[in-house]
Amino acid sequence: MKQRIMSGMRPTGKLHLGHYLGVIDNWVKLQDDYDCFYQVADWHALTTKYDKTENLRQDILDVVMDWLACGINPDKSTLYVQSLVPETAELHIYLSMITPQNWVERDPTLKDMAKILKSKEGMGTQVNYGLMGYPVLMTADILLFNADFVPVGIDQVAHVELSRDIARRFNYVYNTDFFKEPQPKLNNCSLICGLDGNKMGKSFNNDIKISDTEEVTAKKIMTAITDRSRIRKDDPGHPDECEVAYKYWKIFGGENEIEQVATECKAGARGCADCKRKLGAKINERMAEIRKRRKYYEEHPEIVETIIKDGSEKARIEAQKTLAKVRELVKMY
Ligand code: TRP
Ligand code: SF4
Repeated sequence: MKQRIMSGMRPTGKLHLGHYLGVIDNWVKLQDDYDCFYQVADWHALTTKYDKTENLRQDILDVVMDWLACGINPDKSTLYVQSLVPETAELHIYLSMITPQNWVERDPTLKDMAKILKSKEGMGTQVNYGLMGYPVLMTADILLFNADFVPVGIDQVAHVELSRDIARRFNYVYNTDFFKEPQPKLNNCSLICGLDGNKMGKSFNNDIKISDTEEVTAKKIMTAITDRSRIRKDDPGHPDECEVAYKYWKIFGGENEIEQVATECKAGARGCADCKRKLGAKINERMAEIRKRRKYYEEHPEIVETIIKDGSEKARIEAQKTLAKVRELVKMY
C-alpha cells in the first residue's frame, strides 16, 4: 500500500510561478510514489472572504485548470473541492471539541492573518469564529484521509505542526492510535521572488501567471530589477547584486547558460535589456507545454467540471470510511 499525501490550496484565482515552482511542481512529482489527495480549499477561502464570493466558482476552476496544466493527473491523484466533501465539516466538529482554545490562539500564521485583517477597512476586518478554526479545519482536511505527509510551502508548516498535536490529542482522548501524525513535506526548490524583488504575490502586482501569454511574460520580465548600480550596458555588472533577473536565470537556465550569463555580465559584454529578452524567451520555453495544456482546458471547461465532480466523489468514499471509524471511536449514536 502506498503512503498517503494530502494537500490543498485556497481558490485565489489564477496561480503564478511562485505556486508552480514552490508547490505544484512538487505535487506533480509525488503522484507516482504516493496516493495523493489534492484539494481546493473553498471553505478556507470563506474564512476571510465570506462577503466576496461572486468569483468563487471561477476562481476554483482557474486553480484546477492551472493544476492540470502543470501536470497534476486526475488518473493518478484525487483532485477535489473541499465543500463537495462535506464529511470534512463533520470531522471538523469532533476535532474542534478536543482542541484547546489556546492552541489555535498561538498559531503564528493565524496571528498574521488576523493582523492583516485588522489593518484593513470595512467589512470583514473582525476575526470571526470561522477564522479561529482555520487550522482545525485544515487538520480535518488532512486527517480525513489519514495522510502520512503534507507537502506545503514554508508558510503553512505551523498549521501542519498543530494538526500533529490535534491528531495526538484525539488518539489520547479516545484511547486509540487511529490517526497518524501527519508530517510536513517541504520541497527543495528555491523560492522565486516577484519582479520587484519582494515575495511574489497576486496582490503585489509583481507576479507572472502560469496562464500569462508569451507576450505578457516577455513584457513583465523586462520590468525585472537588475543590478541597480549599473548605468550603461557596457559597464561591468554584478550578477550577485542583480536582484531579480539573475536569480530567475538560476532557476530557469541550464548550468552552462547561467555561467555564461555571469561571465558576460561581469565583462560588460551583455546589456540588461538584452539579457532580460533572452530570459523571457527562456521562461516561455519552459512554460510552453503547460500553457498549451491550460488553453485546452480553458476551451473545455466541461472536462474540468467532470474531473472535479468525479474526484470529489472518489474523495467522499474515502472520507466516509474515516468518519465511520471516528463516530465509532467518539461513541456517537
Ligand atoms: N491553508 C492552505 C493554504 O492557504 C490550504 C489548505 C487547506 C491546506 N487545507 C489544507 C494545505 C490541507 C495542506 C493541507 O495554502
Ligand atoms: Fe542582471 Fe543580466 Fe543585467 Fe547582469 S546583464 S545585471 S545578470 S540582467
